[in-house]
Amino acid sequence: MTETPDSIDATLALLAGQDYVCGRDLGTVAYLALALRRPLFLEGAAGTGKTEIAKALAAGLGRRLIRLQCYEGLDAASAIYEWDFAAQMIAIRTAEAAGGADRAALQAELFSDAYLIRRPLLEAMEPQEGGPPVLLIDEVDRTDAPFEAFLLEALSDYQVTIPELGAVKAHEPPIVILTSNRTREVHDALKRRCLYHWVDYPDQARELAILHARAPECAAALSAEIVAFIQRLRGEDLFKNPGVAETVDWARCLVALDAVALSPEMVTDTLGAVLKYQDDIARIAGSEAARILDDARADIARAS
Ligand SMILES: Nc1ncnc2c1ncn2[C@@H]1O[C@H](COP(=O)(O)OP(=O)(O)OP(=O)(O)O)[C@@H](O)[C@H]1O
Ligand SMILES: [Mg+2]
Repeated sequence: MTETPDSIDATLALLAGQDYVCGRDLGTVAYLALALRRPLFLEGAAGTGKTEIAKALAAGLGRRLIRLQCYEGLDAASAIYEWDFAAQMIAIRTAEAAGGADRAALQAELFSDAYLIRRPLLEAMEPQEGGPPVLLIDEVDRTDAPFEAFLLEALSDYQVTIPELGAVKAHEPPIVILTSNRTREVHDALKRRCLYHWVDYPDQARELAILHARAPECAAALSAEIVAFIQRLRGEDLFKNPGVAETVDWARCLVALDAVALSPEMVTDTLGAVLKYQDDIARIAGSEAARILDDARADIARAS
């Protein structure tokens, strides 16, 4: 088990070791979350590295990553555990066939560990090889208020309860990361439990560093054009701005096409890697792509 880092710089180095590039601001809250064992609440636009930091921390620390993907209608029970109904039915049938089973014994057997299906929150409270796991509660804004209230309780004493078996309390609290795309506001009470950070789009220099880490096969000149173009695109008042995920994707597509530089035609032909709404694509394709590319090249010239 790797110990958690003892400084902000060590935290940044640990993340960099997993090709995760971030600024000192995010490095600081990440360090504090580990040092103070506080959940980290990350909010921000899509594709800005919120989910990825949980993966990077888990890999860097040699901990297990346990992910609770939130969705509308997710309830507490399915986040903690379920009983293996099919296996229970088979056990009942088998007992019946054997004739005259002891009902009380059967009942106890059916609600024992052997028939328990562990869901993420229960797993995160149990001891794991390598030390406390990283619990990623992803896209918490997709759930509803009752689930948030339940999470608040689970995260305040790191304990979950299974009525038939009792309470399970974590010996050591997991490293908890919550993410939200802010499709709605998450309740203050839950946020107050956590350290909060807004994950913004990176500036040009950092996005270039991320691209270099994630798509090293993309040559420097092409990478610079891609990043400058994407940075300009984000100022175009689109329905949906491209995230860093799209930057990396686009670079991989262009490399696959053996591109060495952007051209308005190349941009237009590959816009589907960058923009995911037809209205946005229709607006940017063609002459707009040419204009943005000129602006992007001017940005590069100015920066160098
Ligand atoms: N800071 C970063 N360092 C390295 N890679 C990054 C970084 N930010 C984003 N990426 C790249 O972008 C991809 C998408 O990031 P991620 O899935 O974490 O975004 P997200 O913020 O969780 O988006 P969503 O809100 O859509 O879930 C990652 O797989 C990674 O390749
Ligand atoms: Mg995500």
